[in-house]
Amino acid sequence: MYTMLKKEVNEGLAIVTIDRPEALNALNNALLQELKDMFTELRDDEEVRAIILTGAGKAFVAGADIAAMNAMTPIEGREMMILGHSLMDLIEDMEKPVIAAVNGFALGGGCELSMACDIRIASEKAKFGQPETGLGIIPGFGGTQRLPRLVGKSMAKYLLFTSDVIDAERAEQIGLVEKVVPVGALMEEAEKVARRIMANGPIAVGLVKKAVNKGYDLPLREATSLEIELETVAFSTEDKTEGMTAFQEKRDKHFQNK
Ligand code: HXC
Repeated sequence: MYTMLKKEVNEGLAIVTIDRPEALNALNNALLQELKDMFTELRDDEEVRAIILTGAGKAFVAGADIAAMNAMTPIEGREMMILGHSLMDLIEDMEKPVIAAVNGFALGGGCELSMACDIRIASEKAKFGQPETGLGIIPGFGGTQRLPRLVGKSMAKYLLFTSDVIDAERAEQIGLVEKVVPVGALMEEAEKVARRIMANGPIAVGLVKKAVNKGYDLPLREATSLEIELETVAFSTEDKTEGMTAFQEKRDKHFQNK
């Protein structure tokens, strides 16, 4: 039973909307747990091939819940961080592609949540930032690690030290966002990208996600070895035969996820 999330599934594409507008979708423990339950369910649902995550109202997620955090002991804060990290890891480790459709504020934990997704598409109204140092804390859901991996160490430090909030255009320039679209076109564009991915071999997409995510943190030669192993798995699938045969026969592909 979800009280702060909405889910809609249409032809294999799940759209999850975070809906806690009174707090600009801020993440408290209950919402983090709902997100974890939701992504576990989507990971295990064979009907679902791709996921779009977005927010209701003017925020994607305005961060972790400041009122809740202000009342926390260090141990309670740590428990919240562990819960948050387990959500980010779940999204990153699931084979299905997850697209963040960033509709508005993606600050602190919201920026971190978007960075755990595979691709970020933003509306012109979206705003990104890691304002934690302005609250006397540091990012606690992976921001100090995923932000430098996306935008480089120096730009990450600039954003983390200053707490600057940047608009979608700037986020695209620095590589935090893949595409910026007009407000009314956000979901249509996110769905278009999801459907293009879904037209490809599902196992291959999952293997690419693993190769990029796991390989990124390995020394190059270990990462290229990992690629060989994962490509060998791809070669063992019926989808490989289908994809290549369809090319040779100049016909549409019908991937079976096998
Ligand atoms: C709790 C929040 C919130 C948050 C907004 N609200 N952000 N509540 N936690 N992160 C609440 C406000 O208190 C307010 O409630 C209502 O949402 C509307 O927000 P306003 O501030 O009135 O809206 P606006 O003037 O449009 O300003 C939008 C905003 C601002 C710029 C996004 O709300 C803001 O700066 N929010 C905080 C952003 C932030 O610092 N995020 C990082 C958090 S730290 P009321 O009841 O007053 O109407 C973090 C750490 C992660 O994420 C790691 C943790 C371990």
